[in-house]
Amino acid sequence: MTVLEIKDLHVSVEGKEILKGVSLVVRSGEIVALMGPNGSGKSTLFQTIAGNPKYVVTQGDILLDGVSIKDLTPEERFAKGLFVGFQSPVAVPEVRFAFLVQAILNKKMGKKLSDANPRLGEAYKLASELGLKLDVFNRGVGAGFSGGEFKRAEVLLALLTKPAVTVLDEPDSGLDIDGMAAVGKALLGLAKSGGGVLLSTHYARILKFLEPHKVYVMYEGRLVMEGGAEIVRKVEEVGYEGLFKNGGL
Ligand SMILES: Nc1ncnc2c1ncn2[C@@H]1O[C@H](COP(=O)(O)OP(=O)(O)OP(=O)(O)O)[C@@H](O)[C@H]1O
Ligand SMILES: [Mg+2]
Repeated sequence: MTVLEIKDLHVSVEGKEILKGVSLVVRSGEIVALMGPNGSGKSTLFQTIAGNPKYVVTQGDILLDGVSIKDLTPEERFAKGLFVGFQSPVAVPEVRFAFLVQAILNKKMGKKLSDANPRLGEAYKLASELGLKLDVFNRGVGAGFSGGEFKRAEVLLALLTKPAVTVLDEPDSGLDIDGMAAVGKALLGLAKSGGGVLLSTHYARILKFLEPHKVYVMYEGRLVMEGGAEIVRKVEEVGYEGLFKNGGL
């Protein structure tokens, strides 16, 4: 079953067209990887999927479980089962991380945001499995988090949300090898339980921990190549210039 479908998406930022007709699908149980050189438009796609109002859809659509979410607010998209993690997550130091976790759990369970939540213990357990020190729960969201802690915290929130679709922009950047293993295992778990995962990556090292079902390559706002994990290995070997020069694989 298709859980996320991007249909001929054109997106402009401040009047400049960045995405020029992007189409892709993520099915239930699939991990789909998006690669592409710096500035090709990967984060633009992820911000647009999240519903950042700076990114204006001028053509095309975004479907979650077959229903358009293009005109929904980020909160409405989240409520429908979409989780998006960003390349550079935003710190909100005035909100305690434990409160954010509790609020997310409460929102999922239809409770008041400030209610005590019985699943907080589960969050501590998952955090340990992700190698996240428990003191982060007593700190502000992102307050002094290291790059790797940010990425692990993001994956923790995804695991707790159990989204229909998890979209993560460079979840492997800044992670040490143990972090990569933990995050890889978590993403495999999300897919195994029927969720779809869309992630961007620059590196083949993630393949040690998960094999994407499909890999797309973006270039100047368009998807120019589609295949399997061999694309990731080829990019590592010859770079994008080499990949494009020889007309592909
Ligand atoms: N607010 C903005 N104003 C102007 N240009 C923008 C804006 N946001 C993105 N762009 C441009 O859009 C292009 C795509 O950027 P994007 O961040 O999507 O690339 P990316 O593929 O994620 O790159 P990276 O691998 O470096 O993360 C870049 O040329 C970028 O400068
Ligand atoms: Mg990016």
